[in-house]
Amino acid sequence: MIKIAVLGYGTVGSGVVKVLNTNAKKIAKRAGQEIEVKYVLDLRDFPDDPIQNKVVHDYEVIEKDDEVSVVVETMGGTKPAYEFVKRALLAGKSVCTSNKELVAAHGTELIQIAKDKGINFFFEASVGGGIPIIRPLNECLTADRIEQINGILNGTTNYILTKMAKEGSDFDEVLKEAQKLGYAEKDPTADVEGYDACRKIAILTSLAYGAQVDYEDIYTEGITKITAEDFRYASAMDASIKIFGTSKKIGGKLYAMVAPQMIQADNPLYSVNDVFNAICVTGNMLGDVMFYGKGAGKEATASAVVSDVVDAVKHLNQNVIIFWDAQKQEVAPMDEMENRFFVRIGISEKEKAEKEFDEIEPVDAGIEGEFGFLTSKMTEKAFHDIIASFETFITRIRVGF
Ligand code: HSE
Repeated sequence: MIKIAVLGYGTVGSGVVKVLNTNAKKIAKRAGQEIEVKYVLDLRDFPDDPIQNKVVHDYEVIEKDDEVSVVVETMGGTKPAYEFVKRALLAGKSVCTSNKELVAAHGTELIQIAKDKGINFFFEASVGGGIPIIRPLNECLTADRIEQINGILNGTTNYILTKMAKEGSDFDEVLKEAQKLGYAEKDPTADVEGYDACRKIAILTSLAYGAQVDYEDIYTEGITKITAEDFRYASAMDASIKIFGTSKKIGGKLYAMVAPQMIQADNPLYSVNDVFNAICVTGNMLGDVMFYGKGAGKEATASAVVSDVVDAVKHLNQNVIIFWDAQKQEVAPMDEMENRFFVRIGISEKEKAEKEFDEIEPVDAGIEGEFGFLTSKMTEKAFHDIIASFETFITRIRVGF
């Protein structure tokens, strides 16, 4: 019998207890022994929940109990999660976390401590919720050189963009509706500004290339400026607009960004709608492989956390190598990244656009007074240098076709 502790009894933490209870027998068979939750750490009490007799408010109780060999961290944020997780590892307890902020900010250090101690720090649920992507990257796609990762990594923004596409509504309107339905937080900044996806692509990229990528180095643009008119242009091109976390290696340089992009129906990520997430990984031998599923939600995320617990129990006192060195990987300056752009300007500057840009493809969405067009592939710097002189510039969205 293995005893574990769960830090944080919110949506994911209570989901972990639910998954362990619901599938207890199957999980015990797969782990090789039964798993019992000995403690739940939370500031609150839960008098109407059978968990109450396991609730503790003092972390030291867990840290000092040698019977606890695995700690599940589902608190979110880095304070106090980082301190508690580090202390758990130093006390010889493996840790399984769903916390992307923690992994993106302190993953390198926590992986190293687990390695030194001969235990494990697992974080399957930190990216893509219930979608298996961390273990596949670390254990299955090991024969390939990863050329590109492209992912819809945030359910809230995918829900909003899907609604905008279907209903022709504006961002603010759909955001309010999403908040009412509980698909967007009261403070939606981390999702709609792309910060959440940024941490997730930083984690995936660190794993894919085996060295630390700082999330602060990744260019991040959210969806707050996307409008109903942009979707009319997208529709005229049989395209849709999604926000992607993207990283790729070209000529030894690593490029990474989070940004909205237009994609067409032949892209396998085109039909990933609503709160679903999907990640397309391109290997030099394997080609494209796609992972699809629920990127958030209580049971789905908890299922991924419990899969880590099973792995931790199967590897008690044996470190599973995670290829993620402390050595920092430089991300190439955004100016050097090559992209194709969809651009909207006032009709009065149409001829100037035709002169200034090498080759342009007009896009007609029937919107009066403006000119929409696609550029050819060019560096971000070249694009910005040209567009800076346009007085009627409205917007630009990168194009993934
Ligand atoms: N806010 C996140 C999302 C939750 O919408 O995807 C999962 O990390």
